[in-house]
Amino acid sequence: MKRILVTGGAGFIGANFVRMVLDEHPETLVVNLDILTYAGNLENLKGYTDNPNHVFVKGDICDPDLVNELVDKYEIEAIVNFAAESHVDRSLVEPGVFIQTNVQGTLNLLKIALDKKLDRFLQVSTDEVYGSLGPEGYFTESTPLSPNSPYSASKASADMLVCAFGHSWGLPYNITRCSNNYGQYQFPEKMIPLMINNALNDKELPIYGDGLYVRDWLYVYDHCTAIWKVLTEAEPQTIYNVGGNNEKANLEVVRLILDRLGKPDSLIKHVKDRPGHDRRYAIDSSKIMGELGWKPTVTFEEGIVQTIDWYLDNTEWLNHVVSGQYQQYYEDMYAGR
Ligand code: NAD
Ligand code: TYD
Repeated sequence: MKRILVTGGAGFIGANFVRMVLDEHPETLVVNLDILTYAGNLENLKGYTDNPNHVFVKGDICDPDLVNELVDKYEIEAIVNFAAESHVDRSLVEPGVFIQTNVQGTLNLLKIALDKKLDRFLQVSTDEVYGSLGPEGYFTESTPLSPNSPYSASKASADMLVCAFGHSWGLPYNITRCSNNYGQYQFPEKMIPLMINNALNDKELPIYGDGLYVRDWLYVYDHCTAIWKVLTEAEPQTIYNVGGNNEKANLEVVRLILDRLGKPDSLIKHVKDRPGHDRRYAIDSSKIMGELGWKPTVTFEEGIVQTIDWYLDNTEWLNHVVSGQYQQYYEDMYAGR
């Protein structure tokens, strides 16, 4: 794969993916389309904006003229769609923008991918489209979609549109559904960087409900290698789950963070639960491991230490993002909790 349009490549996972591709697959041209919402940050691409194989364009995936122009101008062969509104809590406050970007935006990209006969459309999705698990079992690729939050409903809608374009008109697509990512450049509204940032500032750590909600944690670099493998090696019309095999309860993760930072457990504060909070996500990645030979390389114990140390070493980045709009959002979200 030589010429790809990456959307949302200034966000957390997208920026890690762009950096990995430019470092490890230098024969690739990456056109990076990102509107730079509160979550998109060019500082995530520091050192890469001048790379001759990287073209950054500030713009909207919902804009057909712009996307058509980029596909033509750069002779794009494939689209990798990371662009999204990605935070569940925000979707519970303002679902409309999730439908606009995650559904309408994906539809716009799909139409263009079909029209221009691109070789591949890769949709970066989430395990949250499958809904919630009880204490046992795992999501497989054939688990029925049963999303519970406006965020996951918008992602499931997009997945279904992708499949419909494949089924109806033969669009060559892939969908990857991964578990919770963590690592460098994650915006501190998601649990792990939020807790690191609060602990560093001796602020309370807001645990929703009993804190026994379980997530499977995937180191972001491992997710990026999975996407690259699917993009370059998978058959079209296929879906792959991508998990870290690292199930942890939220309280356990937060205690690890406090321990590493030498901060007391007394910073933990149980706050009002998230409405409709999914109890447990766990993913069966045997398909991608068996068919494409992918496997996660970083254990949670290693990854969480690397992540905490990265935030400690990048306080300037952290201070820049924890300001302005994000600060106001934070006050609104946690007021009265
Ligand atoms: P993020 O919120 O950090 O980044 C999203 C990026 O998309 C931002 O740079 C933003 O500016 C950009 N964007 C938003 N609306 C846009 C628009 N209309 N046009 C162009 N760009 C736009 O998200 P992330 O955590 O990096 O997630 C990336 C993808 O992975 C998303 O599709 C998300 O659903 C999926 N995903 C994330 C996780 C996770 O743990 N973070 C887990 C599973 C799946
Ligand atoms: P989050 O990072 O928002 O990811 P998702 O909801 O998409 O899984 O949250 C991860 C878990 O942490 C989830 O169970 C909600 C919980 N959580 C808290 O307890 N407190 C917080 O302040 C946040 C942001 C999340």
